[in-house]
Amino acid sequence: MKLIEVKDYQEMSKRAAEFIIAKVRAADAINLGLATGGTPVGTYEYMIEDHKQNYTSYRDVTTFNLDEYVGLSGSNPNSYRYYMDEKLFNHIDIVKLNTHIPNGDAADMEKECLRYENQIEQHGGIDLQVLGIGSNGHIGFNEPGTSFESSTHIVDLAPSTREANARYFDNLDEVPDKAVTMGIATILKSREILLLASGEKKRDALAKLFNGEVDERFPASILKNHPCVTIIADKAAIPEGVIARK
Ligand code: GLP
Repeated sequence: MKLIEVKDYQEMSKRAAEFIIAKVRAADAINLGLATGGTPVGTYEYMIEDHKQNYTSYRDVTTFNLDEYVGLSGSNPNSYRYYMDEKLFNHIDIVKLNTHIPNGDAADMEKECLRYENQIEQHGGIDLQVLGIGSNGHIGFNEPGTSFESSTHIVDLAPSTREANARYFDNLDEVPDKAVTMGIATILKSREILLLASGEKKRDALAKLFNGEVDERFPASILKNHPCVTIIADKAAIPEGVIARK
């Protein structure tokens, strides 16, 4: 894992956007794996700004998002479909049909998991997956204890995850208790991974990631077994003693 240290959230967002834009520009076509949450919002803002100023085109980009809440349709402002449309897709020249997010509102969620997993495979897999990290080490919505062999599946959200995400809802009761997420094996199949972390709330998680063993009780630890992971983190998120490139 390569760690790049940056000053603050703004710089993390800029570096992450530049990283993604460089890949988009270099490839004829690319499959991006995208994340939601607070962390990548600034990255998407830079990508939009760059699209407007430098005309980076997303016409040949296909995207697959990590996860979605179960029970929320795409028109619900708290759904990740809504988030992605609002925070990125509506502002760049991507073809909407090429943007994929699990359908949290499918009649048969088991079938939806299979369909999503197959869809990623049929498109040739993910070239670059963007990840955030939960304070308990979750990636996507893969909570501690999730099998490293898991493919796209339904999860019960940990109370700490529901609480962390309650800030986007009117109250905690409205946060769904289930989600659909790419599995850990799905994420690990990506050819390259970019993990973003900002703020002291993420410091303990990064400490476990760097200093701990690969263990299903800390999902992100599996990233140590992936050959091509870059972490862009700001000062506040980087634990003492971990040496990063600037
Ligand atoms: C959420 C998302 C994850 C995200 C993580 C961190 O629950 N499902 O994909 O990476 O938690 O969120 P944030 O970036 O808001 O700290």
